[in-house]
Amino acid sequence: MTSSPTFDNLKAAIANASSLAELERVEQELYSRKHGAITQAMKRLGTLSPEERAKEGKALNAVKQDFTRLLEERKGALGAAALGSLAETDGIDVTLTLPEREHGHLHLIPEFIRQVEEVFGRMGFEVAEGPEVETEDNNFNLLNVPETHPARDAQDTFWIAEDSLPAHRSPATRDEGEPPGGRYVLRTHTSPVQVRYMQDHKPPLRIICPGKVYRKDADATHSPMFHQFEGLMIGKDVSLANMKAVMVTAIRELISPKAEFRFRTGFFPFVEPGLEVDMKWQGEEGQSREGKWLEIVGCGLVHPNVLRNCGIDPKEWQGFAFGFGIERMIMIKHQIPDIRALYNGDLRFLRQF
Ligand code: PHE
Repeated sequence: MTSSPTFDNLKAAIANASSLAELERVEQELYSRKHGAITQAMKRLGTLSPEERAKEGKALNAVKQDFTRLLEERKGALGAAALGSLAETDGIDVTLTLPEREHGHLHLIPEFIRQVEEVFGRMGFEVAEGPEVETEDNNFNLLNVPETHPARDAQDTFWIAEDSLPAHRSPATRDEGEPPGGRYVLRTHTSPVQVRYMQDHKPPLRIICPGKVYRKDADATHSPMFHQFEGLMIGKDVSLANMKAVMVTAIRELISPKAEFRFRTGFFPFVEPGLEVDMKWQGEEGQSREGKWLEIVGCGLVHPNVLRNCGIDPKEWQGFAFGFGIERMIMIKHQIPDIRALYNGDLRFLRQF
């Protein structure tokens, strides 16, 4: 039975199959559960005497191997022919090996923001966001920045004309909880996100707020739009020592494990005491900054007025806030002298990272 006319026919059918679909049909005729020729032959084995079964079984196995080989060969030939005709009709060279594709990567700024979120995430900080068009109250007044403070000078701030605001930001339809009155500005720092968050959430709090900020500055180290990330931690007994630990950990992880620090007093109306942190960094070969101290972050304990303005009792809660300039950190880390290199999209520059 192993050389039955059925098997011979099927062998011929394989050799003559002119497409992969046709070959599949022949495969079905061989192996389908009910009527497949091989399946049937296997079943018949069961009706034979043990001696006959051993003999026929062996022969059938050889037939199966034959078919497997024939099917494989024909499949290969039909597949190659299909590719060949693709080459003919569409002019595609299927033998061509393409050069390896270049993989892109994130721009330095979003990449750095991701690292910031990761490093602070590990210290328990959540990410919070706020709008770039802010109220004068959130950007200045509630942060204890009086009308007369130099940071509000026309040199620094982009004021927004009310009639240029989209309807959903008009004074008549302010966000819930947004204080009434005041003008609108492009936020000059990320600190208003602190205000919004404290108004909406009960302490204890731990947040960072990365985002774009705007000031009327433009030179090699200043851009009218740049990125900051704000940090805020409020608790029952959060101290300057905690702040120092967080600053040192973050800067070591984000810029260099070799960073050395200097904490100086600094004035920001929304913190008391206020500090500025300088870092010195003897980098690897070729990365030395000749041991110069570089100012890297403004920070301090949140001013009681700010807590009160945001509905938090300063007798019960205290904490610290800080504001980092993202471009500044990147420039320090990679020794980039001109901030504009981060915005002009020159691939010769970006590919170095
Ligand atoms: N908002 C300040 C700035 O933009 C930075 C800062 C944030 C300082 C929080 C202290 C506390 O310069």
